[in-house]
Amino acid sequence: MSSFAEDLHAALAGPVHEISPKYFYDAEGSALFERICELPEYYPTRTELALLRRHAPDFARRMGRDAQLIEYGAGALVKVRLLLERAERPHSFVPVDISGPHLLAACESLQAEHPALRILPVVADFTRMHVLPDPPTDGRRIGFFPGSSIGNFDPAQALDFLKLLREELDGGALLIGVDLIKDPALLHAAYNDAQGVTARFNLNLLRHAQRELGLECDANGFDHYAFYEPRLHRIEMHLLPRGPQLLQLQGRQYTLAPGESLHTENSYKYSVASFQDLARQAGFTPAAHWTDERGWFSLHWLEAGG
Ligand code: AVJ
Repeated sequence: MSSFAEDLHAALAGPVHEISPKYFYDAEGSALFERICELPEYYPTRTELALLRRHAPDFARRMGRDAQLIEYGAGALVKVRLLLERAERPHSFVPVDISGPHLLAACESLQAEHPALRILPVVADFTRMHVLPDPPTDGRRIGFFPGSSIGNFDPAQALDFLKLLREELDGGALLIGVDLIKDPALLHAAYNDAQGVTARFNLNLLRHAQRELGLECDANGFDHYAFYEPRLHRIEMHLLPRGPQLLQLQGRQYTLAPGESLHTENSYKYSVASFQDLARQAGFTPAAHWTDERGWFSLHWLEAGG
């Protein structure tokens, strides 16, 4: 089983310094991500929320009665409220999130608003094996994966993950948010905001390691570097050493030369058709999709056979 420490050793030792973006999300990182969602340049959250609001009755109808709603990477539980408000007698709500304290705090305020709702939080890395509470006997499992978090996976990993969801949701369905390919200038702005919140979010990976693993390094010696790679349809985020950087982790020493960046995140963008293709390859049946007027963001309803 790998861990933050092992993954960071591997990233620093390896020829390409890559680490999973899931390590952004300690309490500090989760709070910074929530601030990103409010930024004027960061259109995905706002656009997706508007779509969720506009089509909520449609989602509730597709969900059916007694559904068990499972949210992957639940975070602050803002979006799912729009589904829960309309859901017909939901069986339960199962938020899955890696950041335990953050998740449990969010569940408490949701519970206060929905006293009758059975909330069954699962603190886990949703990309790995996790155990879910039993499915309802009379309703379907409905997966909810908003925010275009699917974009963090490369296409092969995304396919594997969608296959896993297809099995877990067998007989049910998945509602998933997917960011769309667009003018690179808009994408660039969204990941290079004027206030520097995304930069702090990116740097939090090192600060998280300093706090949790006792990593010794000068986090201020790194620059936030994010750009759109049009051939691969992805934003890449890196931490770029400004000068040679010395890092010490659990007695092991590493040096990074200037330009030898730590690659912290990919955020893939799809077209509606390319995403539907991927979903079909995973065994889903695309049943409907919704986009905003500008075509910046999409929501997809995928049936999980049965
Ligand atoms: C949470 C993965 C969807 O890729 O847009 C935001 C994370 N990174 N700004 C994204 C993120 C930088 C976000 N996802």
